[in-house]
Amino acid sequence: MSHDGIDQPARTALVVVAHHRSDSLTAHLAARTTARLESDGYRVDLLDLRAEGFDPRMIEADQPDWGNREKLYSPEVHEHMDRILAADVVIAVFPVYWASVPALLKGWIDRVWNYGFAYGRSKPRLAGKRMLWLGLAGMAAGDPLVDFLQQSLEGQLNMGIAYYCGFSHSSVGLLPDAEERRQRLDADGQLLIDPATVGAERVAQYADLERRADEFVTNFLAAEAVPA
Ligand SMILES: Cc1cc2nc3c(=O)[nH]c(=O)nc-3n(C[C@H](O)[C@H](O)[C@H](O)COP(=O)(O)O)c2cc1C
Repeated sequence: MSHDGIDQPARTALVVVAHHRSDSLTAHLAARTTARLESDGYRVDLLDLRAEGFDPRMIEADQPDWGNREKLYSPEVHEHMDRILAADVVIAVFPVYWASVPALLKGWIDRVWNYGFAYGRSKPRLAGKRMLWLGLAGMAAGDPLVDFLQQSLEGQLNMGIAYYCGFSHSSVGLLPDAEERRQRLDADGQLLIDPATVGAERVAQYADLERRADEFVTNFLAAEAVPA
């Protein structure tokens, strides 16, 4: 129900999970985000790419034809396109791999966010949708590379993908300290790996990660509630 008392149809959120293990921290934060969206009245479409057997490798059927933006892609890709079209907001939850998204998520974008659907039209079909990228990163929160990673992901994901495809908003929620054993490089390039945290420190580490993830989702949804 809206603030003026008029019934509004439920908003739809597509939550895209890009991890190969269902017991991962990534999957845990995606489930938490889903629960939060549902309690806020969203209808959630949970897309677990690995569980659904999505193959991120490009195939000829899904390669763009620059001379034909009406090209019929594979039936699987058209099903994914329909799920994106049905969503008001898209939230991708993924582990940061090599300062980027994992191949599973990259391949979903490569195959599904295709020419004539996601881009290449004067009126983009994805216009007005909003996107949150929640990326878990192994690097320690105090690592000087965190700023670089944030900027790099914003460039790739906000500018290179979401805004290019007409999204009205896109933000990156970067979550460092997502490893059980904190990692950093020393001045000589050696990887220093701390012992795993235990007891109260371990509980605090994961509680803080959940708190930071919740905060990104809260801020994203708060902005969603403000009329454009
Ligand atoms: C192939 C690979 C590449 C990675 N690259 C990065 C990286 O560039 N930056 C970073 O902070 N962490 C990196 N990590 C660490 C992961 O981000 C981290 O293991 C993950 O977020 C933990 O979440 P999970 O338990 O759900 O997998 C990498 C891990 C793997 C396996």
